Amino acid sequence: MSETETRTAPTAESHAGNGVSAAMTATKPLVELSHVEKHFGSLHVLKDINLKVNTGEVLVVVGPSGSGKSTMCRTINRLESIDSGVIRIDGEPLPQEGRDLANLRAEVGMVFQSFNLFANKTILENMTLAPIKVRHMERKDAEDLAMDLLARVGVESQASKMPSQLSGGQQQRVAIARALAMKPKIMLFDEPTSALDPEMVNEVLDVMTQLAQEGMTMICVTHEMGFARRAANRIVFMADGRILEEDTPDGFFDHPKTKRAQDFLSKILTH
Ligand SMILES: Nc1ncnc2c1ncn2[C@@H]1O[C@H](COP(=O)(O)OP(=O)(O)OP(=O)(O)O)[C@@H](O)[C@H]1O
Ligand SMILES: [Mg+2]
Repeated sequence: MSETETRTAPTAESHAGNGVSAAMTATKPLVELSHVEKHFGSLHVLKDINLKVNTGEVLVVVGPSGSGKSTMCRTINRLESIDSGVIRIDGEPLPQEGRDLANLRAEVGMVFQSFNLFANKTILENMTLAPIKVRHMERKDAEDLAMDLLARVGVESQASKMPSQLSGGQQQRVAIARALAMKPKIMLFDEPTSALDPEMVNEVLDVMTQLAQEGMTMICVTHEMGFARRAANRIVFMADGRILEEDTPDGFFDHPKTKRAQDFLSKILTH
């Protein structure tokens, strides 16, 4: 594999070593958080967050409950405002409001824990709504794209059904396909499998792993450590609103540096 290919689409096999560090300095990050601070009232939830994500990188964010993982994700597409610091997407600071913000949101796909499909619309309508409204696609083109994406996540036969007729795993795969229909530059996943019955977790993780292998830039908050080891280029460990560690999967899981990370891992890995 050439240097360029390694840089644009890092694989699960790529290690932090010199290759990745060189790539990190050589390319402009797709997402960059600098000195980000966020309070909810008197609660200081994000403390001097500095993070860069390059195109094609898969970042997995882990950490104890309440450490600020979801809040950090939500600031990246401005579902939450920040108090200070800067967040840049593709070099551009996040817009405050209006059309620019709507355009930005279209470029950042987000999949949450709960399936946020529109309950009163069919799967196909769920898929085509935003591409037609926001991307101004022709209905036929939007439907063709929708069917392609539904096929990619293995639920094309469900297109005419209502969300409630699908299993949780199928709904979550539709949610991923729906986000992809906007042709986002980056996908954010906030615990996309934690509300699923155990037997449905893998079908969603398989779709995410496939996306990662195809070179999608991804930030994933997840407790699925198998997925993290397999698909992540980097692990970010958060505790109390701070990023305490940032390392390769092997580095983080095999040699966590801080006591907080060691405690966290000993709890989740013994389950
Ligand atoms: N809208 C809000 N208003 C007030 N406090 C909030 C709000 N959202 C989150 N918090 C608080 O901010 C802190 C960080 O929450 P956040 O949801 O980002 O944590 P998390 O790491 O995602 O946790 P979990 O693993 O439980 O999902 C928590 O103390 C939480 O109670
Ligand atoms: Mg959360």
